[in-house]
Amino acid sequence: MSASNGMRALITGASSGIGRAIAVELAARGYGLVLVARSEDALTELAAELHRSGGPVHEWLIADLGDAQGVERVTARLADPVRPVDVLVHSAGVGLPPGGYLGNPLEASEAVNRVAIDALTALAHAALPGMLERGRGGLLTVSSIAAFLPGSPAITYAASKAWARAFGEGLNQLTRGTGVTSTVVAPGFVRSGFHSRAGLGASGIHDVMWCTPEQVASAAVRGFEDRRALVVPGAIWKAVYAVHRLTPRSWSRAGFAKYMAWTTRRAA
Ligand SMILES: NC(=O)c1ccc[n+]([C@@H]2O[C@H](COP(=O)([O-])OP(=O)(O)OC[C@H]3O[C@@H](n4cnc5c(N)ncnc54)[C@H](OP(=O)(O)O)[C@@H]3O)[C@@H](O)[C@H]2O)c1
Repeated sequence: MSASNGMRALITGASSGIGRAIAVELAARGYGLVLVARSEDALTELAAELHRSGGPVHEWLIADLGDAQGVERVTARLADPVRPVDVLVHSAGVGLPPGGYLGNPLEASEAVNRVAIDALTALAHAALPGMLERGRGGLLTVSSIAAFLPGSPAITYAASKAWARAFGEGLNQLTRGTGVTSTVVAPGFVRSGFHSRAGLGASGIHDVMWCTPEQVASAAVRGFEDRRALVVPGAIWKAVYAVHRLTPRSWSRAGFAKYMAWTTRRAA
């Protein structure tokens, strides 16, 4: 029997970066997949690639999670009892452009919240009853180390990731003893389309601070299968997280803000 035990996972943000890498990781472990994003070409290409490498024919679903109709399309798929989804992976997300919360129109922060908070609330609400009834599966939420270090101008992004972290960790506790679980993954900087999509220059960030989407995906899926509440991938970010826990919060907030300001100056 493969690690998946015949389970099916629905992955938001599967067209790129961490979500795509989690899809590849889960497919290699034998999970059936429902790939979700807005970019149809990227999803069909990924489904074909996974099929060519010996997997089953995976489903894909085109949905904008910043839009009520898109969210409804995905909740309907999650609640379908005929083709049950055992694992919900929420990786879809957008960053705030330079200037952060105050330097952008309100709409920029609202767009972050719609995908990071509102969509996750709705998708988990649709998925969990079936999982609890079947007594297996769970939720894998992609948060960020920013959930712990809200020091950059992108405070609404950091706050949305803190919300997702609290939600996923809370579910880990709430589902104990049910066969269902919940894991939050909180990566540091990851080389993906994330920074360029948000127009964020990332050239000032030192090489050692970066993880690959594959490193994040492998740690996330292992953590999920081990039923861990929180996973911080990468040695350097584990160290940052440990230091953050041992120092006064005012120090870690200010320290991260200084680091982000320094990387911006370094990139200029
Ligand atoms: N990269 C980092 O440094 C980093 C660090 C910590 C946490 N994270 C988090 O990791 C997650 C994945 O980001 P990534 O690094 O993999 O970035 P990415 O390569 O830009 O991927 C983002 C994914 O989200 C999807 N998405 C964005 N807006 C969407 C919407 N309105 N509806 C549906 N799908 C949407 C995109 O798909 P379509 O455009 O095809 O819809 C894409 O698949 C995000 O939640 C991000 O906050 C990233």
